[in-house]
Amino acid sequence: MSTFPLSRPARIAVLASGRGTNLQSILDAFPPGNPLATVALVVSNKQDAGALERARNHGIKGVFVPFGKARERFEERVAALFEEEGIDLICLAGFMRVLSAPFVTRYEGRILNIHPSLLPQFPGLDAPEQALAAGVKESGCTVHFVDAGIDTGPLIVQRSVPVLPDDTAATLSERILHEEHRAYPQAIHLVLTGRVRYEPQEVQS
Ligand code: GRF
Repeated sequence: MSTFPLSRPARIAVLASGRGTNLQSILDAFPPGNPLATVALVVSNKQDAGALERARNHGIKGVFVPFGKARERFEERVAALFEEEGIDLICLAGFMRVLSAPFVTRYEGRILNIHPSLLPQFPGLDAPEQALAAGVKESGCTVHFVDAGIDTGPLIVQRSVPVLPDDTAATLSERILHEEHRAYPQAIHLVLTGRVRYEPQEVQS
């Protein structure tokens, strides 16, 4: 699939469940008028997410869509928003829900996610805790294309940090987060300029 590059700025939707510091890094990297991309939509499954507030502060459409028990309904509403806003690229940034395989397939090559570990190490929840428990000397973050697995899609950017002897999950997460804020804009740049292209791979179970 050779979706990118486009001949106009790409319209990005960011899905976030929390405070939205990764959203902020994307907003800062691609401010209004940037020739490569613009953030056109922020969606959160949490009404009080800091990410929605950041969207409002930047005059960007921010929409609360409850996830509830019906994932299908959430996905239908979000797909309709993507359609309305002409979204080209979807960035999951601290989005704490799993999207269905049909949804992910529909947007294949156009959904990215950020994860606080050097994937394929430590997928899933509490990655910094997992890194500490495993006693690794290095961890970091990964931006990857989303496929139907959990934290399994093709890698785009990784940035590493040392794990220090006196680290707690909080200090390690903070160090990783700092690199996340560099990694996400880098990955978006690589994808939108067509320098990294989505190549489907075998989904790991
Ligand atoms: C980040 O650590 C990200 O890797 C993880 O959730 C956190 C989101 O942070 N998936 P923020 O909401 O972007 O500040």
